[in-house]
Parts: sequence; C-alpha cells; structure tokens
Amino acid sequence: MAKLSRKPIHDLERIIEFDLVRATEAAALNASQWMGKGDKNAADQAACDAIRGMFDLIPCCGEVVIGEGIKDDAPGIFLGEHLGTWQPGVVPLDIAVDPVDGTTNISKGLPNVISVLAAGSAYDGLGKSLRNLPSLYCEKLAYGPRVRDYMLKTGVEQVKLEAPIEENVLLVAKILNTAVHELTITMLDRPRHEELVQRIRKVGARLRMIGDGDVASAIAPSLPDSGTDLYVGVGGSPEAVLAATALRCLGGDMQVRMWPRDEAERKQLIEEGFEEELNKVYYAEDLARGDGIMFCATGISDSPLLPGVRFIGHTAVTHSILMRASTRTVRHIKAVHDLTKKTIRLRSTRAEQPL
Ligand code: FBP
Repeated sequence: MAKLSRKPIHDLERIIEFDLVRATEAAALNASQWMGKGDKNAADQAACDAIRGMFDLIPCCGEVVIGEGIKDDAPGIFLGEHLGTWQPGVVPLDIAVDPVDGTTNISKGLPNVISVLAAGSAYDGLGKSLRNLPSLYCEKLAYGPRVRDYMLKTGVEQVKLEAPIEENVLLVAKILNTAVHELTITMLDRPRHEELVQRIRKVGARLRMIGDGDVASAIAPSLPDSGTDLYVGVGGSPEAVLAATALRCLGGDMQVRMWPRDEAERKQLIEEGFEEELNKVYYAEDLARGDGIMFCATGISDSPLLPGVRFIGHTAVTHSILMRASTRTVRHIKAVHDLTKKTIRLRSTRAEQPL
C-alpha cells in the first residue's frame, strides 16, 4: 500500500478557496432579503452576520487587513478583526472584505451589488498581501488584459493615471482597435466627476454612469463582453484593493492614487507619515501582492461581473466567481439552494438559520 505523503502542504489556497464562496454566497442570500426595502444598514448587517458566521467554520487564522463601514458609519467588518477558527496550525490569511458593495443600491433594488472578498496568504518578506490605503478615497484607472499586455510589450506608449483623460482615451481606442465614439468608459455618477465627464464627452467616447458599486465596474474592462473598456474616477479605497485582486487574477490592471477629500484629510495623512505615498501611483500588483491571493464574489443584483440572486419557486439561485492569481483559474459557480432545506450559519445566533 502506498504511504501517505507527510510533506507540508505548499498550496494553501487550494484548501481554503471553496469555503470563501460559501461565505459570499451566504452573505448574498442573507442580504437579498433586504433588497428594495429601503434599509441599507440592515442589508449590510445581514451580510456581515453571514460572513462572520461562515468564517467561524473555516479553518484559517484570518485577519481583516481591509474592512469597510468607516466611510458612512455603516455596520461592517473592520480592520484587525479576526475571522476563522484560529486553531493552531491552520492557514494564516490576510482578508479584504466588503459584505455588500452597493448598500444604497440594494436598499433601492438597483443593479450593481455584489458581496466580495479577497484573501491572501501572508507572504514571507512581503508583509501583508493586501495593502490598506490610508485615504478613504482614491483615483482609479482600470483597464483589461489587452491594454496591459500592449503596454508591457511596447514599453513606450502608456496609459497613465496622471495623463490627461483625452490622451488615455485615444490610446486605449488605438490599442483596442476601436473608434473613439465606440469606446465605453464607466464611472461613478458623482459631482466630483463633473469636469472629467465634460472632457470625456468632448473627446467623443461613450459614458456609462453608475450609482454605486465600483468593484464590479472596475473589473468590467477585464471581462469579455462587459461593454466597458475603461473604468475611471474617484471611489472608495477598500474597493480599489478588492478590484485590484480580481485584476491580478484576470490579467488586467489598475492604477490608483490616494485622493484626500479636503485639505484636512491631506494634512492628517501627512501627519500620519504618508506624504510621499500621496503622489504615488499604485498598480494592481502593489495593492494585491504575491501569487497567494484569491478573489471571490457573489452577485446580489445584476452587475457586469455577475447575475444577482434569483428566487425561483422554492429555490434561490446564486452566481459566484472564484479565482486566484497563482493559476489564473477563473471559476463561475452557479448554485441552486433549496429553501426548504437551506440554512445559513450566522454569527449572531451561532447557529444554522433557515433563510
Ligand atoms: P457602499 O456599499 O459601502 O455604500 O459603497 C458603494 C460605493 O459605490 C463603492 O462601490 C464606491 O467605491 C464608493 O461607494 C464611492 O463612495 P461615495 O458613494 O462616497 O462616492
């Protein structure tokens, strides 16, 4: 009889990755009950409860290195929180989590809402695998693999966050071999983008403005047939790191720079020692580091990334995406949950609850 190998396990992500899908599925299902009910905090709370409850069963030492909820005092899973069983010998993981990206949208029953998390094995010599940017917001420019590969190949023509938007639009159109008026740019619909909007319209590209949920939208240019070629504008910093993790797995890229909202925040960042970093442009691999990173999301309402939860008869159907950087395997997981049997483990009750 062959002897069982006693070699240490080197592919830690493999052990844990499918458990991550259970966590975002549970969050999406639990939050879906609040779809359109006008209570974004209740939806967020339901998702957080399910993520924590599911992680209570996952054998890992998870530390939340990027949480959410600070921006608008919403409920959230916060920086430094421990997730997982924390038994001796289990996998150490850095975790970035947004139980509901698009809380306003879920409260209104609008599209573009996902439950999303990224995890990375803490990497020797690299520190945290997911970098927490200290500003609440940052400028973002995200593009797909064709643009990234072209730039790596030529080394000369580069799309740049600091460059005028007109130059970036023309270059992306050239790389994608498309007319400028057929190029679609997505951004959050916010007053702070007024000038950017005017300039994009003037150069002749199409604009798609979204109400909320810029994780899925920043990933969109890296997905075939998403209808978005470029993502630009200012959005949340945690959301940037989550999107960057997905882009590392899909071969796209993103450029990001901190965006203090006002002089007071700029001053505070300088006082905290981030003066140099304020001008730095981070790429996806600066934010999601090493090969041991994974990305997982489940759709709550329809987005370019995933269809939302559908309730059909006595079932709920979820769609999730699971991927990791080391192999670039992208899994699309459709699950049919029989609601006469389905339970979700919640942290609040420390028990399995029917939906
Ligand atoms: P929440 O789900 O936390 O409300 O975030 C939604 C979102 O649209 C993010 O996707 C985006 O990065 C951020 O808000 C933008 O912030 P703001 O709404 O303050 O412009």
